[in-house]
Amino acid sequence: MARILIIGCGRLGRPLGNLLINQGHEVVGIRRSAPPDSPSRINWLSMDITKTEAFRLLPTDFQQIIIILTPASRSPQGYSEIYQKGLKNLLGHFHQNQHNLACIFVSATSVYAQQEGQWVNENSETQPHSYNGKSLLDAENQVMKFSQRALVIRFSGIYGAERTRLIQKLEKPVEIQQKPSVYTNRIHQDDCVRVLQHFAVKQLAGEKLYPLYLATDYDPAAKFEMMNWLAAEAGLIAPIPLVAADDAPRNKRCCNKRLVESGYRFKYRSYKDGYRAMLDIK
Ligand SMILES: NC(=O)c1ccc[n+]([C@@H]2O[C@H](COP(=O)([O-])OP(=O)(O)OC[C@H]3O[C@@H](n4cnc5c(N)ncnc54)[C@H](OP(=O)(O)O)[C@@H]3O)[C@@H](O)[C@H]2O)c1
Repeated sequence: MARILIIGCGRLGRPLGNLLINQGHEVVGIRRSAPPDSPSRINWLSMDITKTEAFRLLPTDFQQIIIILTPASRSPQGYSEIYQKGLKNLLGHFHQNQHNLACIFVSATSVYAQQEGQWVNENSETQPHSYNGKSLLDAENQVMKFSQRALVIRFSGIYGAERTRLIQKLEKPVEIQQKPSVYTNRIHQDDCVRVLQHFAVKQLAGEKLYPLYLATDYDPAAKFEMMNWLAAEAGLIAPIPLVAADDAPRNKRCCNKRLVESGYRFKYRSYKDGYRAMLDIK
């Protein structure tokens, strides 16, 4: 049994914590707000990792830390507050007491700047232009320097459960570039939780892992095709096709080969499976 700390225990962290508890581990979860469910099997600690004084309350006797943070705002300040300042406080706290700690950091595919529809994998160049991509890449590097046992997981666009943004978009007429195709890379929230459990268990067992995994489903899709399919499935308004210049940005296609080779089996292999399950529940 391990003592595991989840820093940023929200929509992914809570179900992950419960899965790990079911496997016999002890889980402490950090968030700023009060615990969402009481009684809970997760031991909650309310603290703000951007405030250094808060760390006085945080023990260091964990075998694994799992970092799943989101910024308070989608702005350069919001990102730097959490991924630079907050993360530095957190890693500094553990660095003083424990070296080589098992550590998982959740990142995003926004670290890639590729825009020509090409495939990207863990070896592809990361030269983000966006503030969020730059901030996340810097955070990944901080975590990699912190521990030789660090593992970074880059999720693509998460959907599922209450994440219904794309469905809501189709309640009104919306224009989407059809030509040239712009790709969208997706992963269902349940798969994110299961991917994190998959790697948490392997890391604790001392299995040999790569330091970096891309986590995305099998089906990077043309966004217009996907939204058109979703509108038909959900009985909403079909998107209006737009034709752009031949050299218009097309995003990238994310490859999950390394993840699948690690033994992970998807619950939802494609957005079609995941959205069908969501629409059946509604
Ligand atoms: N959304 C996407 O499509 C997408 C794509 C790729 C990757 N990702 C990544 O996937 C993860 C998504 O996680 P999620 O869905 O579980 O997010 P979430 O539900 O927003 O959970 C984040 C947790 O972090 C806590 N938190 C935020 N700031 C904090 C602070 N300063 N100190 C302590 N706790 C703090 C929040 O609680 P309080 O607010 O109470 O503090 C919350 O419990 C993120 O790491 C995100 O970057 C997302």
